[in-house]
Amino acid sequence: MDKIVIEGGQPLRGEMRVLGAKNAALPIQCAALLADGPTTLRHVPQLSDVRTMNALLAGLGCEVTGERTLTIHPGGVSDGPLEAPYDLVKTMRASVTVMGPLLARYGRARVSLPGGCAIGARPIDQHLRGLEALGATVTLSHGYVDLAAKRLTGAAFVFDLVTVGGTQNVMMAATLARGTTVLENVAREPEVVELALVLNKMGAKIRGAGTPVIEIEGVDRLSGIDHAILPDRIEAGTFMVGAAITGGDVTLRHAPVDDLHAVIAKMEEAGVLFDVTPEGLRVRGPDELRPIDVTTRPHPGFPTDMQAQIMVLATAARGQSLVTETIFENRFMHVPELCRMGADIVVHGNSAAIRGPTRYSGAEVMATDLRASASLILAGLIAKGRTEVRRVYHLDRGYETIETRLRSIGASIERYHGARG
Ligand code: UD1
Repeated sequence: MDKIVIEGGQPLRGEMRVLGAKNAALPIQCAALLADGPTTLRHVPQLSDVRTMNALLAGLGCEVTGERTLTIHPGGVSDGPLEAPYDLVKTMRASVTVMGPLLARYGRARVSLPGGCAIGARPIDQHLRGLEALGATVTLSHGYVDLAAKRLTGAAFVFDLVTVGGTQNVMMAATLARGTTVLENVAREPEVVELALVLNKMGAKIRGAGTPVIEIEGVDRLSGIDHAILPDRIEAGTFMVGAAITGGDVTLRHAPVDDLHAVIAKMEEAGVLFDVTPEGLRVRGPDELRPIDVTTRPHPGFPTDMQAQIMVLATAARGQSLVTETIFENRFMHVPELCRMGADIVVHGNSAAIRGPTRYSGAEVMATDLRASASLILAGLIAKGRTEVRRVYHLDRGYETIETRLRSIGASIERYHGARG
């Protein structure tokens, strides 16, 4: 297994382009299943999750070619197994997003139930209830869910809670249903808006994406399209924190500023300086950071996928900060590792009380999930001495060659291949 080694203390300085968003790419890859012809996606990030989704699509009978520019041709799917197997679903939960498209386009789907994951139980009950509302029969057996419907029928459905994947799955299914579907209490994340845009380009009739109510008028068929994936707000946010805590000065080209309001607002409260320039979003770290209180919420609130990274910023600030996680039940696994590097963080239930500023000292640490790993890299950037982050395969799920990217803006960071553990 690879490890990443960082020598802390270098400010991040320079310019970098924000890459395509993982969480936008994955559901759009699934949407390609709905089309009658090939779909071409551009600016696709080179990540293991994207490759896992490609393997799933290939297993379903799609012809998948290219990488950065990816073409998915669903021609062979009708003769395929219409199944997302356990081996793939267990490595990536987003695999369940094929459920809605398969059911809508091919009348049937068999998907392994994902089970829990490192950050919580993460059930898919809302996906299933939504699809049932559209007329699917849902049967659970042997760890799999079987769905069937000759043709789905438009219906009204209210989600019990805001779910990104659930909204995407049911919205995709409804595009080919007979009649109109009205979905309430939907997720408003930029990746939901982007998916609706893509589906509409394919010929769907979706209104209201980005608001709490989405209306979908079913159509008979959808066609393949050509589409560029939007820039990754979480990658941008992670590099923003890196610039801020190192007292750096970084310009992020193509940063999706409008999707980052909550993160920018919190970082400004901490004293970080932002300028929108013709080149991109410029981020400058202050001499001293102020403490902040952050609570994660569905979009447009503060994103849970930035919680671990903002916590590192809070540890670097002088005074008491509070970080509260409301989306996932077990998303503080970075805390013990940050404490091993010197942070003063006390967790009570779903809140973490932080006292700073931490003078981090480099250590060997273990990555536990994607964003937790990013927080360890960030702490390593400001630690005294050498930090070794193990299990970096978590990072490779969501950050494309993070070590090369950070090195290009001044970090002292290397990847070593084949390290133990
Ligand atoms: C997506 C993102 C993930 C992000 C999350 C929240 C992708 C590929 N992943 O994950 O990076 O952290 O949104 O912004 O886009 N829930 C249920 N029942 C359901 C569905 C969800 O109880 O049927 C719960 C989950 O356990 C969780 C909360 O709802 O506590 C939000 O989950 P959801 O928005 O569905 O997250 P994902 O779509 O899995």
